[in-house]
Amino acid sequence: MSELIVKRNDKDWYKDLIIYQVYPMSFMDGNNDGIGDLRGIISKLPYLKELGINAIWLSPIYRSPFVDNGYDISDYRDIDPRFGTMDDFDEYVNECHKLGIYVIMDLVVNHTSDKHPWFVASSASRDNEFSDYYIWRDEPNNWAGAFGGSAWEYSEKRGQYYLHTFSKGQPDLNWKNERVQHEVLDMISWWCGKGVDGFRVDAISYLDKADFDYSPNPVDVSGYAFALDINSNRPGTHRLISMLRTQGFDKFNAMSVGEVCCYTPEDNYNYSSDSRKEFNMAIPFVPPVLEIETWSPLNMKKQIKESYEVLKEDGWWARFLSNHDKPRQVSLYGDDKNYRELSAKFLATITELLPGTPFIFQGEEIGMTNVYYDSIDDYNDIDMKNMYELERMKGKSDEDAFRFAQSISRDNARSPMQWNDSINGGFSLTRPWLNSNPNYKEINVEKEEKSSDSILSYYKELIALRRNSYTLRRGLFEFMDFDSPYLFSYKRYTKDDEYLILGNFSKDKVIAEYDINGYKPVLKNYNKNYSKKIASMEPYEVVVLERM
Ligand code: NOJ
Ligand code: CA
Repeated sequence: MSELIVKRNDKDWYKDLIIYQVYPMSFMDGNNDGIGDLRGIISKLPYLKELGINAIWLSPIYRSPFVDNGYDISDYRDIDPRFGTMDDFDEYVNECHKLGIYVIMDLVVNHTSDKHPWFVASSASRDNEFSDYYIWRDEPNNWAGAFGGSAWEYSEKRGQYYLHTFSKGQPDLNWKNERVQHEVLDMISWWCGKGVDGFRVDAISYLDKADFDYSPNPVDVSGYAFALDINSNRPGTHRLISMLRTQGFDKFNAMSVGEVCCYTPEDNYNYSSDSRKEFNMAIPFVPPVLEIETWSPLNMKKQIKESYEVLKEDGWWARFLSNHDKPRQVSLYGDDKNYRELSAKFLATITELLPGTPFIFQGEEIGMTNVYYDSIDDYNDIDMKNMYELERMKGKSDEDAFRFAQSISRDNARSPMQWNDSINGGFSLTRPWLNSNPNYKEINVEKEEKSSDSILSYYKELIALRRNSYTLRRGLFEFMDFDSPYLFSYKRYTKDDEYLILGNFSKDKVIAEYDINGYKPVLKNYNKNYSKKIASMEPYEVVVLERM
C-alpha cells in the first residue's frame, strides 16, 4: 500500500483523480444572498479535503443571464457577480492547489448566451465582423430544441433565423468558422494560464451540423425532430474535438472529459480512446426520462461490461451515477425510503470501485434525496417547465403532468447542500433561490460527521481505499454472477493483488454462493462477520474483500 500522489505531468494523471462536482448555485452561500458562491465554496474546501477527493469540477461560474443556470455564457473570461469576482476565483485556485485539489472548469462552447457580445453583433446585421459566428438561415426547418419548440428563432434586426440546439437564449456557435475555433482555443489557454487543470466539456457532440435540407420524420406531436439526435456524433465534430485536444488541452496536459451523446460503446470509444486523441474520457448523456424507464441492475451490468470490453485496451471511463441533470442517485437507483443509508453506501461502492475515474455529485456523500415541492412555481428548471407544458398539451391533467415533470426535474439534484439542521440547512441565512429539501433536519453533513457508521464516513473509507490501492484504481476488472438480476459482484485484480466486491443490488434478501476463504473484509455496509462462505446477501448489502 502506498498513498496516492497524482503527478500532474504524467500522461495518465487523470486516471487517478477522484472528482467532486460542485453545483455552485447550491453548494454554499458565502454572503447570505440566497445563492451559492465562490467564497462559500472556499470555506468548504477543508470539508472536501477531508472527504479525500483530489479534484473539483465546478459547473459554470462565468458571467451569464442564467436562462439555463449558467450554461448560457455571456462572457467567457469573467466570473458572474452572483458567484464573486476574479480575485475570488484566483484565491479559489490557490487554495485548491495548496490542498492538493485540481481545478476543473466547465467549458460550454456548443453555444453562448444570446447576450454574448458576439451574438449581439451577429444578430445586428448580415455583414459585420461577427455575422458568421452563429448559424443563420432564411427559413427554419423542422428541427426542435432540446427544451421544446423549434430550434430556430427569428431575429427581427437581421431578418433571419438562428439555430439553438438548447433554449432560444443559447444560440449555437458556427464551428465551421475558423475564427470561432481560435476564440475557443485562446480561451482554453487563458484559463490554463490561470491555473485551471482540466475541463468538463459541455454538450460537445453536436458541433458539426447536418445538412439543413434534412428534415427527418417528426418525432413529437408538434411535427418536430430533435436537433440533438440529428446532429450527434458526426465525423466533422470528431475532427474538431481532436483539434481542441491537440492544439488546446495537450499544450497544458489538461484533463478533459466530454459530455457526449452515446448510443453505443463504440460511440464512447470514439470520444475517449487514447489513440484517437479526443477526450480523456466521456460522460455519456442519457435523458433522465429514458434512464428512469429503462434502467435495471442487469442493464447496468450489461452496459458496463460492453463498455469495458471496448475501451479496456485504449480508453477510460468517467464513472458516475448522478449529476446536476439527473435525479438523486439514492432516489433513482436505490431506495430513499426504506434503505436510504444502505443503498447510498451500495451505490457509492459502484462509483468508486469500478474501473474509471469516479465522479461524486455534491450531497451524494450524505445520501441527499429528490425534492418534492408542492407546486410547479416552486421549481426553477427550464427543461422541467417545458416538459410540464408539453405533457399538458398532449392531454395530461395538470396533476399528472406535474408528477411526471417532478420525477425528471433537474431541480432534484440542484436543491441546496444540507450542511446542518439550522435554517435552510445551513446553506444560507436568506431563503435560497431554490428551496432546501425539508429533510435537512435529518439529512445533513454535521449529523453525518458525528457517526462512524454514516454514509459520509463510509465514503471517506471508500475513497481512502481507492487512493491506497493501485489495483482498485488501475487493475483489471471482471463481473462475477453476471447473469443474476440482483447480484452486483466483481473482481479487481493485478498479478499481485485481488479484491472481490460482492453486492446485492435489490430490496430483497437473495441467495448467493461465494467462497471467500483466504480473503479479508476491508469495507462493508452491514455489521456482519465474514469468513469462508457467503450463502445469502441482505438488501443492498455490499462487502469489499481483499485476498490475504
Ligand atoms: C448539458 C448540461 O449539463 C445541462 O445542464 C445544460 O442544460 C445543457 N448541457 C446545455 O448547455
Ligand atoms: Ca451568495
